[in-house]
Amino acid sequence: MLNRISAIFLFLLFALTAAGQKSGGPANDAPSAVVLETASGKQRAEFTYYQDIKPIIDKHCAVCHREGQAAPFSLTSYEAVQKRARFIEMAVESRYMPPWYADPSFRTFHNENRLSDAEIQLIADWVKTGAKRGKVPKTPAVENEDANLLPEPDLRLYMQKPFEIPGDNSEQFRIFIIPTHAEEDLFVRGIGFQPGNLRQAHHARLMIDTTNLLRDDDGATAGDPNTAFTRLNVKMAEEFWHGWVPGNFPILYPEGFGKKLPENADIVLNMHYSPTPIPATDQSEVSLYLCREKPRRLVKTFALGEEWITNQPFVIPANTEVRFYMRSPMLPADLSIATVMPHMHLLGKSFKAYAITPQGAFIPLVYIPAWDFKWQMIYQFEKLLKLPKGSVIYAEAVYNNTSENELNPSNPPVHVGYGWGTKDEMMNLIFEFLDYEEGDETLNLFKK
Ligand code: HEC
Repeated sequence: MLNRISAIFLFLLFALTAAGQKSGGPANDAPSAVVLETASGKQRAEFTYYQDIKPIIDKHCAVCHREGQAAPFSLTSYEAVQKRARFIEMAVESRYMPPWYADPSFRTFHNENRLSDAEIQLIADWVKTGAKRGKVPKTPAVENEDANLLPEPDLRLYMQKPFEIPGDNSEQFRIFIIPTHAEEDLFVRGIGFQPGNLRQAHHARLMIDTTNLLRDDDGATAGDPNTAFTRLNVKMAEEFWHGWVPGNFPILYPEGFGKKLPENADIVLNMHYSPTPIPATDQSEVSLYLCREKPRRLVKTFALGEEWITNQPFVIPANTEVRFYMRSPMLPADLSIATVMPHMHLLGKSFKAYAITPQGAFIPLVYIPAWDFKWQMIYQFEKLLKLPKGSVIYAEAVYNNTSENELNPSNPPVHVGYGWGTKDEMMNLIFEFLDYEEGDETLNLFKK
């Protein structure tokens, strides 16, 4: 309300000054600019790409909307942005873009990418006033450096052979085995995943198997009952070693931190490919940055799976919406949590996780009010988060198995239970953590 009033006041003031100037003469050749109220409450005669829009796009969009990244078009020039101005306005107003699903009022994260209301308003104002280019600044803004640009990795591993993605419009959930044949334990400071086919790659989960029992599964369909993966129920040495979705970049820990890659381990790659009407191929790459010496601090993983659900069985009857509750055992030691990642499939609707300490303190972990299967994000804590010994982690997930869920893979809906296939469901809560050390609360593991 105040804003409105001050805008009207400012407008009147402008009108009066303009009128005054008119009679004074020279102001006649001043541009007949429309004065607009900006979200910040200040009035502005003009909105331009270079002044207002490019900084927003560089900061929030260009990491994905650039050559060689996963978004379908680049937004790195005025022409590219102007051409899609209205489309961009819609995508940001609905908060579809940039993709960020964790509720910031519950917990904010290091890798959070959201527009402020003021930035969204600025984009709308720019579009409304003709999406003008404006003057190229005299000192060009420093180009947003490619977040993917890291030093050359020490090791590049590839899927053993290219995978032929069938052109029959089917979703593909596949398992690939990448044997490392490493003769000793390795420690890595950084891990990157580069999809071989950015157009089709949807998301990837990397796990570590030390049994070598899954080697025949290379290229198999995840969830297929004939795979060793399903038959043998092999316990992974790491159930979640690294993950990729569009916009996730390689991680590189500070010196002294690292992850273990045990001797002769196989990297198990769980890939999801989007449907395509045209056959395509993929041969993705895993790049590794090795620690020069054994790291003093190990980054490890733990995953809470369906076995920790308290209201078993994990079955979602057709035409129902069901909420499952998960409760972890008491944490056996003080932990420093680095990331959290909820995981569900297409029926997922919302996911909330928090911890309760032995003293009864409530520690929010992550809340995704509107789950989107497309964005299986890894949420990085701003500082390592201490969960004291004896804490219990709770999670609640809602699944919508009705036909109102547009993503429901079965129409009409069918009973759904646990599994790795597209039509199965999962409820995972995955953490990367370190053993707690004094002072961890001030440490950001992801700061470049
Ligand atoms: C994390 C990567 C990422 C970021 C950051 C990102 N985008 Fe996207 N964007 C994508 C991908 C991938 C698609 C295509 C898939 C889709 O439409 O869901 C897309 C699609 C779009 C579309 C088309 C939407 C549609 O309905 O098809 C628009 C417009 C868009 N992005 C604009 C933006 C703008 C503007 C920003 C920054 C404010 C942004 N994006 C940030 C990855 C990203």
